[in-house]
Parts: sequence; C-alpha cells; structure tokens
Amino acid sequence: MFANVFNGKRVFITGHTGFKGSWLAAWLLHLGAQVAGYACDIPTNPSHFEAMGLCAHIKDIRADIRDRDRLKQAMQEWKPDILFHLAAQALVRTSYEDPITTFESNMLGTLNVLESMRHCPSIQAAVIITSDKCYRNDEQVWGYRENDALGGHDPYSASKGCAEIIAHSYFSSFFHNGPRCVTVRAGNVIGGGDWAKDRIVPDCARAWAKGEPVTIRNPHATRPWQLVLEPLSGYLLVAQKLLVPDPNTPQLHGEAYNFGPDASVHATVGDVVQGLAYHWPGFQSTMLPTEQTQAKECTLLKLCCDKALAHLNWKATLTFEETVRETAFWYHTYYRGNQKSMLDCTLGQIKSYVNTAELRNQPWTK
Ligand SMILES: NC(=O)c1ccc[n+]([C@@H]2O[C@H](COP(=O)([O-])OP(=O)(O)OC[C@H]3O[C@@H](n4cnc5c(N)ncnc54)[C@H](O)[C@@H]3O)[C@@H](O)[C@H]2O)c1
Repeated sequence: MFANVFNGKRVFITGHTGFKGSWLAAWLLHLGAQVAGYACDIPTNPSHFEAMGLCAHIKDIRADIRDRDRLKQAMQEWKPDILFHLAAQALVRTSYEDPITTFESNMLGTLNVLESMRHCPSIQAAVIITSDKCYRNDEQVWGYRENDALGGHDPYSASKGCAEIIAHSYFSSFFHNGPRCVTVRAGNVIGGGDWAKDRIVPDCARAWAKGEPVTIRNPHATRPWQLVLEPLSGYLLVAQKLLVPDPNTPQLHGEAYNFGPDASVHATVGDVVQGLAYHWPGFQSTMLPTEQTQAKECTLLKLCCDKALAHLNWKATLTFEETVRETAFWYHTYYRGNQKSMLDCTLGQIKSYVNTAELRNQPWTK
C-alpha cells in the first residue's frame, strides 16, 4: 500500500502521544517506517499511546513545540525524510479556559515547526494537520471548500485558522525548492483509544465503563464523523505523493486538502451514542441531554472533499455504521481487559480497514 514509499523512511511526528498521532505512529510502524515522536506530555490517562506500549517501538521525545531551539535540535538529530505535525491543544472547550496556551501551542507551535524545517535539510515532505474548524463557520448547509474563508469564533478554531495562514506563508515564501508541503483539514474523528475530555466517544467510554449514563451536550449537532484511519489514509496518501511526485497529477506543494466522510453521512451526536451502545455488548445507552454549552459550539459543520478526490483519488472507505462498530470494538476489547497490549488490537483494526479499502478498490491500497 502507498506504493511502499514509507518502508525504511525516517518520520518525525509531533503530537505522537495523542489520539490521532498514536494511530498514525502505529500505522507508519506497520508500513516499515522508523518513527520519532515529539510531544510535551501524554494528554490523557488512560491513553492509546500507553495502552499500545508505543514508546518501546519509537524514539519518544518529550518536549514542548513552543521551545523552538529544542524542536530544531530534535529534528536535526533525527534527520527525518518526512514530518507530520499534529501537536496542538486540540479541545474547543479548553480553548475557552486557556486561550493563551491554545494560541501559543497551535499558532506559535506551528510557526516553530515550519521554522525548524528550514534548518533541517533532510526533510523532503511535510503534512501540517489543522482542522475542519479552521473555516469561518457560517452554519452553511453545503460543505466547506478549501478556498472558503478561514476564521473561527472560539480560540481553538481561530488558532487553527492562524496556523493555516502561517503554514501557507512559509510554503510560498521559503519552500519553493522543498520540502514539499500541504495543510490538511479533517472533520470529527472517532476511534478506539480516545479519552480526551468533552468528546462524545470518550465521554461514553468513561461513563459506560463505570456503568453510568452518559451526559451529552448537543444531541442534535451534526458532525462529519469518520474513523481515525480515514483521514490518516488521506495524510499518508498525500505524503506519498509529496515524497514521490507523480508527473501525471497536479503539483501538490502549497495546497490544502479536506478529508471527510461521504456527503451522505449526516449523523448527529445522538446517532453516535446510539450506534456505540448497539455495538458495545451489554450496554443500554442512557443519555442525559444538557443545554450547558449550546451557545458555544456550532451545530452544523460539513466538508466538501471533491478536491481530495480530484487531485489524490481519495475518498472515505467506511459507512457510518462501520465507523461506529470499529470504534465500539476497540473500547470493548480494552475494557474486557484480556489483551496484554492493545497494539495487537490497533494493528488488527488497521489491517481490517486496509482489507475493506482493498475490496472497495481504494487506489492507495496498491
Ligand atoms: N480528534 C479530532 O477529532 C480532530 C479533528 C480535527 C483536527 N484535529 C487535530 O489533529 C491533531 C491531533 O488531534 P488529537 O485528537 O490527536 O489531539 P490530542 O489532544 O489527543 O493530542 C495532542 C497531542 O499534541 C501534544 N501537544 C499539545 N500541546 C503541545 C505542546 N505545546 N508541545 C508539544 N506537544 C504538544 C500532546 O502531547 C499530544 O501528543 C491536532 O492538531 C488537532 O487539532 C483533531
């Protein structure tokens, strides 16, 4: 898969201890890459990173992306071929409590990553992960396109809009002759091993593991839900094409891409909770809705992924039902507690996802 370009490659991931970063690190190990991760902490307890015992398989660097000298030094020492930048303060509600850390980590952190890349000649390609929330949210009913206005009311969304502007400034000002870079914007990602606060799947996992009902904030809010492996397949595909440019497809350097579910996926928070309960044996979902934060979070957010289809031939693989089933399976395995390391479960889910993608003729599986 991915034309085998990652086999033997040296990869630098910021935010590897987090939910998405740890899945990405596991997939890259499976593809034969040598992985170094740079993150300031393990953001949750429990965590996917620790459940898998990932630190035994990678170079695990604990430092802050706000520390530019340390970041530059770590990159120069590892000499990566490719970089994935995911480190961020990733929670909307936390961004209201601590806007300074959010802006510093997401805006200055991205600036430091890009500046460090200028002093790291080994890097050939970089994928800068921002968010679907980088768009100015007008509650429009059609999907956001890559050339829509950036913005964001809450500090998290605004910081991601800023990160986009900084990244594209660096791409066009400094990286004409490499490294080849893109920004990527994915929607709400779910999957096993997420224990972040104020996210619906972790909220369910935490509550149901204790036999308690789950409290949900905006049961009718629609989000572009996708299994964590879906945007990661997009990040890896775009990285493959940055590393080995295809003369028959558009030049990707300097572009931005959305990665989201099929436009027909139109599920609410309530649908996710009910789906999880259905696939989590022994659970009756109990939801306690609360109006607490309705004013703070937008209720409609959709992405248009036509550009990823046109340039990369990428589209999502799974249905909503499959997405929720895979997510529930991971937590069920974890809480059943009869698996020593969850690495096998995670790798099993990656293999099963790739098999499904092969059956559905996804080009990246070649
Ligand atoms: N999870 C989602 O649904 C989602 C959706 C859209 C975008 N994103 C973006 O994807 C990326 C990863 O998200 P996630 O869900 O894995 O987040 P997460 O909170 O699980 O992990 C964040 C990671 O960043 C690291 N980090 C945070 N601040 C840091 C700092 N100052 N210095 C060094 N490391 C720092 C943490 O240690 C951790 O490794 C983030 O950029 C996030 O904004 C996530």
